Amino acid sequence: MEAIKKKKRVLITGCSSGFGLLTAVEAARAGYDVVATMRNLGKADYLRQALDQAGAAAAIERLDVADRGSIEAIAEKYRPVDILINNAGILIMGSFLDITEDEMRTIFETNYFGVVALTRAVVVGMIENGSGLVINIASLAGLIGHIFNAAYCASKHALVGFSKSIRQELEPFNINVVSVEPGYHKTEIIRANANISENFYDQDSPMFQYNRGFLRLMRDEIIPHAGVAQDVVKTIMKIMAADKPKGHYVIGKDARFATTMQWLGATCALEKKIHNKLLAATRRENRRAEARKAKRKKPPANQ
Ligand SMILES: NC(=O)c1ccc[n+]([C@@H]2O[C@H](COP(=O)([O-])OP(=O)(O)OC[C@H]3O[C@@H](n4cnc5c(N)ncnc54)[C@H](OP(=O)(O)O)[C@@H]3O)[C@@H](O)[C@H]2O)c1
Repeated sequence: MEAIKKKKRVLITGCSSGFGLLTAVEAARAGYDVVATMRNLGKADYLRQALDQAGAAAAIERLDVADRGSIEAIAEKYRPVDILINNAGILIMGSFLDITEDEMRTIFETNYFGVVALTRAVVVGMIENGSGLVINIASLAGLIGHIFNAAYCASKHALVGFSKSIRQELEPFNINVVSVEPGYHKTEIIRANANISENFYDQDSPMFQYNRGFLRLMRDEIIPHAGVAQDVVKTIMKIMAADKPKGHYVIGKDARFATTMQWLGATCALEKKIHNKLLAATRRENRRAEARKAKRKKPPANQ
């Protein structure tokens, strides 16, 4: 009789929306033993509905990667995990002059320290088990600079550096570490979860007019061209099924273009292009603001 193959256990963070939610559903549908986690179980209904629609099932658990207690509890309860997907992440946009130190620390706590803490807690079981796969959802922002996103970029660069380093440390234990680097894709991180720094609209900031131009650039040119989230999920599923996954995967047209420019030594040309787009968007935004001001000043026609 053929031996019953044990389902691989996949632990995913940040499953209330975006890549996390979609990956949890796809992985459950593909027959993995999925532990889908999120920091706020009040948001679990979206995932439950998506699982129901797919005719799939997953354990849904609370896990806030910024809370060491919840990391320890989940790592203990589900040990050993075969595949860990460090997906949870946050974005707080704002120039490095405007963003507060607390906001920078919040970004790092989730995007970097949370990943490190969970990976340390889970990898112990993988070492005992003799195998494992860690997939870190980094970003194109972990490879190149992004204006008005220095803190997010720095956290993702840290994550890429962490992934590259531990990949070598964990190789002797038959544990693969993969860094995924998507460009912009349509998920909540560029919609409802797109936070801006509390000082973003501070008119005394030397960055004020450029901040507004940056938002205009995002709205007019970047978000409309963002990729489809399912493309990232497809790549994650491919990595999960691969015998020998690559060390990193760049996903999306923008990410492939930017990394090619970097490889060609043409990063300055790319930065210049973005800078010119920012100036044009800032001029457009300033004209709009002037027009609004003039309209407010104009007395009604019947006076
Ligand atoms: N979409 C893109 O353009 C893009 C590009 C490159 C990289 N990424 C990366 O992809 C990952 C997934 O983001 P997404 O695009 O799918 O955006 P998303 O829809 O905003 O999903 C982010 C998820 O992370 C969760 N999260 C935030 N802080 C957390 C914490 N402390 N503990 C646990 N979960 C937490 C969010 O939970 P709440 O609902 O509670 O906030 C949400 O479930 C992130 O690491 C992001 O940086 C995204």
